[in-house]
Amino acid sequence: MKIGSELESYVLGHSDEELVRLERQAEIFSEATEAILSLAGLRTGMRVLDLGCGVGDVSLIAARLVGAEGRVVGIDRAEEALSTARRRVAAAGLSNITFESRDIEALQDVEPFDAVIGRFILMHLPRSAAILADLKSVVVPNGLLAFIEMDISSSSAVPPMPLFTRCLDWITTLYRRAGMEPDMGSKLYGVFRAAGLAPHLHGICRVEGGPDATAYDYVAETIRTMSPNLQKLGLATAEELDVETLSARLRQASLEADTCFVFPRFVGAWART
Ligand SMILES: C[S@@+](CC[C@H](N)C(=O)[O-])C[C@H]1O[C@@H](n2cnc3c(N)ncnc32)[C@H](O)[C@@H]1O
Repeated sequence: MKIGSELESYVLGHSDEELVRLERQAEIFSEATEAILSLAGLRTGMRVLDLGCGVGDVSLIAARLVGAEGRVVGIDRAEEALSTARRRVAAAGLSNITFESRDIEALQDVEPFDAVIGRFILMHLPRSAAILADLKSVVVPNGLLAFIEMDISSSSAVPPMPLFTRCLDWITTLYRRAGMEPDMGSKLYGVFRAAGLAPHLHGICRVEGGPDATAYDYVAETIRTMSPNLQKLGLATAEELDVETLSARLRQASLEADTCFVFPRFVGAWART
């Protein structure tokens, strides 16, 4: 089946629910993101380009790391996401971040940056290695290229929870059917090598359990935003997904079995040109 003709090119869409999901995702992954960007070498005063910035979480973290003397430019092709990003930056009172509506596949006339970064973006780009290779010309000599991705199928519930396993299967199957890579985290090594770069890598994994675990809402909101496409491809019916009760069902099943959630492995890769 040809997916491109049936699904939106960006499989999660940009509904209000998806923008909220992106902000929740940011809360879950912000510490790990900051740790990896620091390890990669983001420092005070750097000029940074954030690719596929979405609602601006990574740009906000980068802006903290580069400080008032540095500068961050976030780009995304989704205007709805950029409007939210601009509102958040204004609310934070920051003047060192700007956002531009651009397609990563057509980056021309870009000033040289000290670093190009991106989180959860290479998984969406079928030509990821070729794009990474092209990015060498967007940074100064010895400039930094740093990307962060997940291995979604490395996630698990212990002891196993059938409802969680089904959700994970829906998520990874939809990404694959839409031509995206759900396990880009560990594939970053190969993508960097194919782009002619020798990467340093670091992985972090969040593990949690109990009534206040963030996994219930995070999984349910991911399924909610994927729900139209899951149904369109016949991967699940609205009744099977039952998104309104999904978070509560995950929480109940988890508390009954005293489940521990191992989040997807979160992998950073970086290299100097
Ligand atoms: C999963 S979101 C990640 C957002 C953000 N980096 C984060 O980690 O919170 C991926 C973003 O990449 C953007 N995107 C995907 N393909 C793109 C392209 N070719 N050019 C520009 N933006 C793109 C989408 O619009 C979306 O906002």
